[in-house]
Amino acid sequence: MKLLVIGGGGREHALAWKLLRSSRGPALPTVFVAPGNAGTALDEDLENVPLTGIPELVEFARKESVAFTVVGPEAPLADGIVDAFHAAGLKIFGPTRQAAQLETSKEFAKAFMQRHGIPTAAYASFDSPDEAHRYVDEKGAPIVVKADGLAAGKGVVVAMTLEEAHAAVDAMLVKTSAGKVAARIVIEEFLEGEEISFIVMADGRHVLPLATSQDHKRLKEGDQGPNTGGMGAYSPAPAISPMLHAKIMREVIHAAMAGMEQEGIPFTGFLYAGLMILPDGGIRVLEFNCRMGDPEAEVILLRLKSNLITLMEHAIGGTLDKVEAEWDRRTALGVVMAAHDYPGTPRRGDVIHGLPDLPQMPASEKDFHVFHAGTAWGGENGKEIVTAGGRVLCITALADGVRMAQRRAYEIAEHIHFDGCQMRRDIGYRAINQSRK
Ligand code: AMP
Ligand code: GLY
Repeated sequence: MKLLVIGGGGREHALAWKLLRSSRGPALPTVFVAPGNAGTALDEDLENVPLTGIPELVEFARKESVAFTVVGPEAPLADGIVDAFHAAGLKIFGPTRQAAQLETSKEFAKAFMQRHGIPTAAYASFDSPDEAHRYVDEKGAPIVVKADGLAAGKGVVVAMTLEEAHAAVDAMLVKTSAGKVAARIVIEEFLEGEEISFIVMADGRHVLPLATSQDHKRLKEGDQGPNTGGMGAYSPAPAISPMLHAKIMREVIHAAMAGMEQEGIPFTGFLYAGLMILPDGGIRVLEFNCRMGDPEAEVILLRLKSNLITLMEHAIGGTLDKVEAEWDRRTALGVVMAAHDYPGTPRRGDVIHGLPDLPQMPASEKDFHVFHAGTAWGGENGKEIVTAGGRVLCITALADGVRMAQRRAYEIAEHIHFDGCQMRRDIGYRAINQSRK
């Protein structure tokens, strides 16, 4: 069986790693990763394919008779990769371009939530800077300014002061010498609470909730500093009680699935609701993503005991109501090692030391996995692994409880070094505090 994973980050390494371990017979599946990274190249049973163009990927999947394709990141979804594969009669797991608007257009997502009664922050959207400035003055700070299109995590400014809010409006709407950043913005009410990631697999009608997770978005310890794609994550998220889980499924997930179906754009793929849990137990959707989170995928997939190929086949075939997922009861915790200057302009080419020195353990006892993200072959003779992106590695460990998982992940991380490495030392602290209560 041949499978194809699209993307080259830690999430895609985790997806490919798990698919490879989901064989149902004696033969391993062949898992291609396009374009992959040094980690997927290193894994001798994975095969990197140096393609990123959609027509080339369609051609490759057809030529290789790939059984199905899984899409990791949002960009190819926004570019219509699922539509192109469907048009060629190829199986693929992900939302169509239209369904992906839940992530790719903040304005679509906000209006959709309003139409279907899904709880979200109060908002207004603007294309006129003057009106946006007036609205900011009227509402006051703190307030949140969001660019409408995909902005790779840089399109959201949580403005604590009026000054910051006005500057964000200008940066996003007013023409600069470099051109306009966004044609429309959404300005919304600032929410305070606990942020969680709620991710499900969806087949157009049914959903299969994945294990709960939580990530740390800010660069610096104590959740300070600039927003990033995520500096670490853990699963399960103790903030989600069974009651809260049921409420999220009802008010957010099922409501969104029914809404998409009603509007004629049923959602197939990973659906990720970024949620704020308010101090009074209320929930608000901050955003929808049409993919797994990264690094949430790494911790979730490390805990998945079920066969991922089987789950994917049910998702693609519209029968997710017929399966359940089984999870390792231990906690998984992932720590991101990021490159110098991430999330600015990450430095490339720093040699990563220590990967071969990791503890060697039989697969059945191995309680960690180092997922690669921005890595490539390089160095003096091209035989070293070097940094090649913002987030470089995600050190992911499994142990009894979040405290032990945290200790184990940092123990492994101690073996690895590269110049300029940025790594938070406190991943999981919220869950540890919660488990103390
Ligand atoms: P988004 O891409 O919309 O999820 O925004 C990125 C990050 O900005 C979120 O993960 C939150 O940490 C923060 N954020 C977004 N919207 C709000 C809000 N209304 N109130 C407070 N923080 C927010
Ligand atoms: N870790 C957050 C995200 O993938 O959007």
